Amino acid sequence: MCGIVGCTSRTGEVVPGLVESLKRLEYRGYDSSGIAAIGERGLGIVRRVGKIRELESELAVAPLTGSTAIGHTRWATHGSPTEANAHPHRVGKLVVVHNGIIENYLELREELTQRGARFQSETDTEVVAHLVQALWQGDLVAAVRSAVKRLHGSFALALLHEDAPDLIVAARRDSPLVIGVGEGAHWLASDVPALLPWTRRIIYLEDGDVAALRPERVDVTDAEGVARARAVAEITWSAEMAEKAGFPHFMLKEIHEQPATVSNALLGRIAENSGAIVLDGFALSDAELRSLRRICIVACGTSWHAGQVGRFLLEEDAGIPVEVDYASEMIHREPLLAKDDLLIAISQSGETADTRAALKKGREAGARTLVITNVAGSSMARDAAHVLLTYAGPEIGVASTKAFMGQLTVLALLALRLGAARGRLDQKTLARRLHELKTLPHALEQALALSDAAKDIAGELAAARDALYLGRGLNYPIALEGALKLKEISYIHAEGYPAGEMKHGPIALIDPSMPVIAIATESVTSALMSGNVEEARARGARVIGIVSTGEERLMKSCWRTLVVPRVPEALSPFVNIIPLQLLAYWTAVIRGSDVDQPRNLAKTVTVQ
Ligand code: AGP
Repeated sequence: MCGIVGCTSRTGEVVPGLVESLKRLEYRGYDSSGIAAIGERGLGIVRRVGKIRELESELAVAPLTGSTAIGHTRWATHGSPTEANAHPHRVGKLVVVHNGIIENYLELREELTQRGARFQSETDTEVVAHLVQALWQGDLVAAVRSAVKRLHGSFALALLHEDAPDLIVAARRDSPLVIGVGEGAHWLASDVPALLPWTRRIIYLEDGDVAALRPERVDVTDAEGVARARAVAEITWSAEMAEKAGFPHFMLKEIHEQPATVSNALLGRIAENSGAIVLDGFALSDAELRSLRRICIVACGTSWHAGQVGRFLLEEDAGIPVEVDYASEMIHREPLLAKDDLLIAISQSGETADTRAALKKGREAGARTLVITNVAGSSMARDAAHVLLTYAGPEIGVASTKAFMGQLTVLALLALRLGAARGRLDQKTLARRLHELKTLPHALEQALALSDAAKDIAGELAAARDALYLGRGLNYPIALEGALKLKEISYIHAEGYPAGEMKHGPIALIDPSMPVIAIATESVTSALMSGNVEEARARGARVIGIVSTGEERLMKSCWRTLVVPRVPEALSPFVNIIPLQLLAYWTAVIRGSDVDQPRNLAKTVTVQ
C-alpha cells in the first residue's frame, strides 16, 4: 500500500509542498519515494530508496523545479525496494505513480514487450506507463481512459506528460484518491491529511473515475468520457489534529485521545430527552431489526478483535447469533448469507482489500450490509448500504488504538439499539446502560494514569523473547489485541489465548523467561482466572496482572499488577485494553523500534 501526491498550480513551485505532503503519507508505506515535476527545463524525476528524508536530502543538492508535479512513497508489493522499482516510473515524456495491484500485469508486459517496450523495473506499475504510452495520441486523458479498460485489479494512478505541462490525470479503482480544491491550484493525494496544510476543500474520487486536474479546473468522467458530478466536501479536521500535539509519537497521542474518542462516538447518538439511540447511517427500522436472523462480522487484525468483542455484546444484548470471520478467510468460502442476515464490515481505513472484498461478497449474496469505519469517504463507506462512523479523527500510528476504541463504542451502541428494538432491553435497563457508556471516558482517564507504571514494567518485558496473554469471555479478544500490539511494535513474539485453554498446551511454554499477562478484572469468571494465575505462577512465570481495584489477594499472586477502575463487565474491554496498549508502547520505545512506522507494516493494506 503506498502514498500518492500531486499538485498543479498557476503560481510558483510545487515540489517543496509535495515533499511535505508525502511526509504525511509516510505511514502508508516508506521503503522508497520519488517526485516528478514539469518546469521550464521540462520533465525531471528524483527517486530514492528509504524514508522520505532520503529524497529530501537528494532534492537539497539536486533541486527539482516545476508548477506541476506528482510524488509517491512506496510499500513494495512487486519488486524489492530499489531505486529502479521506486515510483514515478517514466516512459519517454510520460510518468506515472500507482497504489494497488495490477493483476494482469504479466500478460500486459508480455504484449507490450512484443510491441517493442523495454522494461527497467520489476513492477506492475511500469506496465501502466508503457500501456498509456502505447495508447497516447496527443491526449493524455483519452489515453488513460483507454488504458484503464485494459487493467484488472486495483489502482490509484496519477500521470504527467511533458507535452501537457499543467495537467495531472488521475484514475481510481479499489484504491483511495482525493482531490484538494484551491484557488489557481489543485492537489491530489491518497489520503486527506496530506492535503490539510493547503486546503480543506476535498473531492473524494470514486471507483471508475478518471480526473483531469488543471490549475483552474477539475473534470471528472468515467472511462467512456461521460462526465461525473463530484461534490466538494469541507474537512473539519485541523492540520494539527494530524500532528503529534506534543507527544513523542502519534501512537501515544492516540492512546491518550481515547476518552475523547468514546465521547465523540456517542455524540448525537443518544437522544437527550427520550434516551433513544439514534444511529444515523443505519436506517433499519425496529421491525427490520427484529427480522434479522444472524449477524456476520468480517474484519482484519485489530478490527477483527473489535468484532470479537462486538459478538459478546450483540449476543448478550440483542439475543442474535453472531459469527466473526477473518475477511481473508470468508472471501474464499461460500458465505451462505441471505437477506435476513446482517453483514458488518469493520475497518478503520475503510480500504483494507480483504475486508472490502468480503463486504462485496456479502452484498452480492443478498445480506444487508453495514460498515463501521473511521473514514467517511472510504471505499467501504461507499460500498455498504449502511455506514456507522467511529469519529476517532485521523489515526496516523500504524498500530491501531483509538480507532479500536471507537469501534468498540459503536458496537456497544449497536448492541443496545438492537436489544431495544428486539424487546430484550426495557427502557430502564437501556437508560442505565447508556449512562454507564457516557461515564466510561472518566474510567479511561483513570486507566491512562497507569502510563508510568506500565513504563516501569515494560523495562522487564523488553528483555523477553516471548509473552503469553490470557483472558476469558469478552476479555479473550482483549488478550489477542494486547498480544498484537506488543508484537507489531516491539517485535517480541506474543500470543493471546483463552485462559481456559492454557492447560491444554501453552502451559508447557511457561517458565521464568516467559512473562504471562493475565486480564483478571472483576467478572463472572474471576475465580477461574485467579486459578489460571496460580497455575502460571506455580511454574515460575512472572505474571503481570490487569486487575480491578480492591483485588488485594489476586495482586499478591502477581509479579506486577496494573490496577484499573471497576466498570460493568460489558465495558471492561474498553478499560482493560489501555494498560496493554501502554505496555506495548513503552516496551517498543525501550527496544528502540519505530513505534509509529513498525518494520514490514503499513497503515492500510490495500492488497489481498
Ligand atoms: C492494527 O494495529 C494493525 N495495524 C492491523 O491489524 C489493522 O488493524 C488491520 O490491517 C485492519 O485495518 P483496517 O481496520 O483499516 O481494516
